Amino acid sequence: MTDTITLNDGVKIPAVGFGTFLIPADGSTYKAVRAALDAGYRHIDTATAYYNEEEVGNAVRDSGILREEIFITSKLWVSHFGYERALMGVERSLRKLGMDYMDLYLLHQPYGDVAGAWQALEEAKKAGKIRSIGVSNMTVKIWNACVPHFATMPSVNQIECNPLAQQKEIRKIMAAGSVKAECWGPLGQGNRTLLENQTIRAIGEKYGKSAAQVILRFEVQEDMITLPKSANSERIRSNLDIFDFTLADDEMNQIRALDTGKPSHNPDAPGVGEYLISHYPIND
Ligand code: A2P
Repeated sequence: MTDTITLNDGVKIPAVGFGTFLIPADGSTYKAVRAALDAGYRHIDTATAYYNEEEVGNAVRDSGILREEIFITSKLWVSHFGYERALMGVERSLRKLGMDYMDLYLLHQPYGDVAGAWQALEEAKKAGKIRSIGVSNMTVKIWNACVPHFATMPSVNQIECNPLAQQKEIRKIMAAGSVKAECWGPLGQGNRTLLENQTIRAIGEKYGKSAAQVILRFEVQEDMITLPKSANSERIRSNLDIFDFTLADDEMNQIRALDTGKPSHNPDAPGVGEYLISHYPIND
């Protein structure tokens, strides 16, 4: 069983979750989620725009594990932003998942009527349809433009984060509101420069752990939630096997020093919202 992190609304979330972005809904998502649950994951991260919520729901049901023992995150797509459409988007996710509540629901991308969509999430939370609510891909600039207008503080901001792109500035602002970071692309999306980094590998050798395990352990010790993806059953299993060692302070500092401050995705770039809507259409 994985360690948990407590969110600012008291909800406990397993620190390692299984990411499902880009896993097709052709039976592959079902298989991958079953494998993850068998390997001991109790936290699955999906989204409307991953087009695989149905298979996630089926895998959870068929696993035989009690629903309340599994933490399910999904996300509202930008085409459902605005108050009224967001209420429908929540119902759509619940219907696709075949569940009567979600543990965490995020505004997937910060474009369009973010404030109206957030208000709908706050209401869905009050109505018991969602246990915790959060945002995603918010930079300092976007956070400062949006969050001061929210009635309640998000519980998480899911952002691209790994040892080469540690997002220190936005994390500092989030920490002031006890908002936890969730790392997408926590292994640098398979980036060899990261996975073959000598500092990380040397630390791993000391503990008999792979570079990936050291990276994920670093993220969890930074009090972040991390969402590694893998299609390989051995790597799915080993990515969760990070709770039997602890990185020392000097090792944490060595990894903190690897930050380049340059994530691969820039949510502030002009046209990102329009690009996302046109490339990930949701038509129902
Ligand atoms: P694979 O599916 O073959 O395991 P991220 O989680 O940062 O988005 O990275 C996902 C990428 O990292 C995938 O290409 C995945 O490939 C690879 N990956 C996942 N786990 C590991 C691991 N333990 N060691 C090396 N590469 C990994």
